[in-house]
Amino acid sequence: MQITIDHLRNMKKAGEKIPTITAYDYTSAKLIDQIGIPLILVGDTLGQVVLGYGSTLPVTMQDMVHHTKAVSRGSTNALIVADMPFMSYQITVEDALWNAGILVKEAGAHAVKLEGGISVSETVKRIVSTGIPVMGHIGLTPQSVNQLSGYKVQGKTLDSAKALVEDAKALEQSGVFSIVLECVPAELAKLITDTVSVPTISIGSGKDCDGQVQVFHDMLGLFQDFKPKHAKKYSNLAENIENALKSYVSEVKQGIFPDDSHSYQIKKAVLEELRSDLKS
Ligand code: KIV
Repeated sequence: MQITIDHLRNMKKAGEKIPTITAYDYTSAKLIDQIGIPLILVGDTLGQVVLGYGSTLPVTMQDMVHHTKAVSRGSTNALIVADMPFMSYQITVEDALWNAGILVKEAGAHAVKLEGGISVSETVKRIVSTGIPVMGHIGLTPQSVNQLSGYKVQGKTLDSAKALVEDAKALEQSGVFSIVLECVPAELAKLITDTVSVPTISIGSGKDCDGQVQVFHDMLGLFQDFKPKHAKKYSNLAENIENALKSYVSEVKQGIFPDDSHSYQIKKAVLEELRSDLKS
């Protein structure tokens, strides 16, 4: 069953939590989709965990289209949200409309996500008016890492907390179907969640949001460069992969791999004829 934005709204109303995971390729999307996770985010974190950049800033529309296409081929049920990369929506509303359209029409996303509150509310309104669902993203907005002077918890002072509540309300008014709250103190995230009618999805913003999102590579222990406090490791795949690679190398060196079960055979008669042909 294809998950829709109505399903997510109903989950909030019913108090049912919304688990969300990022994905960047066909195989991981298929694994995520087949266990029934309703929401997949093709995050611009692909800049760090897949492409090896130091931030999300270098990620391009081409990158997002390429990876969203792969995720959409792997998923049949989940609602796929694609991140709008840095500078694909900030310059003009026309750019934003054009690029949101490409992510849906060409790449197969069902919705797009962009960072910011009041400052992007007009852009959000225009994208929604074209029929493309938009997810908001406030708190720590990684595309503004330089302006924020680093990856820091947001909304700790009265003024900044008030500003986040106003940003959430502005996004709701502009028609977003959901809002990501990144690195917001848990009590403030609860207050925002109780204030807006759309589902809030937390990353580092406590348990009282309507859903949670984790970066695939962080939660599976694949990404080793950096581990944010809010990322919980549910597995240690990097270690498993390292062990598997070492076993492979050792078996190749010892001539244990490949054995007959991983090789192809030719009929004896054909082989003998070939040998006698070669001799003559
Ligand atoms: O790009 C991403 O993965 C995100 C999540 C961290 C919410 O925006």
